[in-house]
Amino acid sequence: MNETRFNSEYTERCRDYFKTEYPQGATFFIQNEGCQMNSLQTETVAGMALQMGLTETTEEQNASVVIYNTCTVRENANQKIYGHLGGLKSIKRKNPGLKIVLFGCMMQEHHVIEKIRKDYPFVDVVFGTHNIHKFPELFYRSLMGNSQIIDIWEDSDEIVEGLPTARKYSFKTGVNIMFGCNNFCSYCIVPYVRGREKSREPVSILRELETLAAQGVSEVMLLGQNVNSYGKTLDIPVSFAELLKEAEKVEGIRRIRFMTSHPKDLSDELIRVMAESKKICHHLHLPMQSGSSRILQKMNRRYDKARYLDLVDKIRTAVPDISLTTDIIVGFPGETEEDFLDTLDVVRKSGFDTAFTFIYSKRTGTPAAKMDDQIPQEVIRDRFDRLLSLVQETGRSRSARFTGTVQEVLVEEENREKGLLTGRTEHNLLVHFPGDPSLIGTYVPVQLDTCKGFYYFGTVKRGS
Ligand code: 5AD
Ligand code: SF4
Repeated sequence: MNETRFNSEYTERCRDYFKTEYPQGATFFIQNEGCQMNSLQTETVAGMALQMGLTETTEEQNASVVIYNTCTVRENANQKIYGHLGGLKSIKRKNPGLKIVLFGCMMQEHHVIEKIRKDYPFVDVVFGTHNIHKFPELFYRSLMGNSQIIDIWEDSDEIVEGLPTARKYSFKTGVNIMFGCNNFCSYCIVPYVRGREKSREPVSILRELETLAAQGVSEVMLLGQNVNSYGKTLDIPVSFAELLKEAEKVEGIRRIRFMTSHPKDLSDELIRVMAESKKICHHLHLPMQSGSSRILQKMNRRYDKARYLDLVDKIRTAVPDISLTTDIIVGFPGETEEDFLDTLDVVRKSGFDTAFTFIYSKRTGTPAAKMDDQIPQEVIRDRFDRLLSLVQETGRSRSARFTGTVQEVLVEEENREKGLLTGRTEHNLLVHFPGDPSLIGTYVPVQLDTCKGFYYFGTVKRGS
């Protein structure tokens, strides 16, 4: 069956329904939780909602349809959704015509679906991560009946191409190059909720890049849970480095970013391509998770402390001005003070520009959830605070290295403070500077005058 055609048939039916039933116009409110991969799927569902005849609103209270794309990487993401649902229950009491839609990672968990069935019967439509193209059909079925529609797929071996999208920016966007994850890091729920790794065909990706460039997009972020293993499962295998080389040839694309890289798969070829490229931004997100070889093994990360430090060395030698960012988990089961000191040691030696620090969260169904030695909260809190002050100190001094230099900035938006614009350098540093809103979407040379820790104030420097 042609899934995309099927989707457009129900899109039409929804559109007709809204035209007849809501002559004054129906609206949708959509909220994204979680990572950039989720944001892209949120934009796709928003694109479908627009085609279904809804217009977007930022006022949840008055929307005809409320949609949440959910995350479940840590327990607090789930708690946040349950909190929102409490609020939505009272909105729906006042407005019984309200339609509530939940989708995404959290919906892939059996215990969540049981809870929604039992405790949240006022939720109208639920789907997961594998069938977002079914949104118009599921929504239409809900419009035609009153019962809760739940459709969750365990996995899928197909990637549906050509879905609509409502992009936040006209000049930059993410592009999915693969879905799912095969790594099964022992703490992580992602492989269970996003399924097995599937790469898009290079031609589909390159065609999308060409279309985006023709539409005025100049910066792209290639996205996958582990982009370094891109292409391994294709009929004709292609490496990520090869894909990057092809992407670089697309005219009109000026900046290429990618996320996320797994250290175990970061190849010398990729480092070489980065070093030689004119378009690949000098920013690498390389999650280390822990600095202790013993904990890394328990995490099933398949590299150790020495290999991580060695990689950092190699990258810094090949691309000396690289901005390096990372993810770190504190309080993994069995983590001793000595293990934690190894983490601090790697942070000191690696000089991260930014490190995202997380408190270990027990995810039901993962191997780590069954491990003995879960760490007491007060020990975790203490380690977390010590780590945070170190990464902030390192980050601040790393960011300051650009003070006084002129960097090319892609202008993204007007700042809340009037007269100021906000943009990013290739190193992903945020810069605020005085300028006219007509510059949004363009590249401007900006002198970075004052470093404020993680962002700069600057001034435009033409002709430099
Ligand atoms: N607890 C805490 N942090 C986690 N992450 C993934 N799973 C967990 C968990 N169970 C973090 C990892 C990953 C980032 C996206 O989220 O650091 O790189
Ligand atoms: Fe989770 Fe590890 Fe896959 Fe990243 S690579 S999504 S941390 S299992």
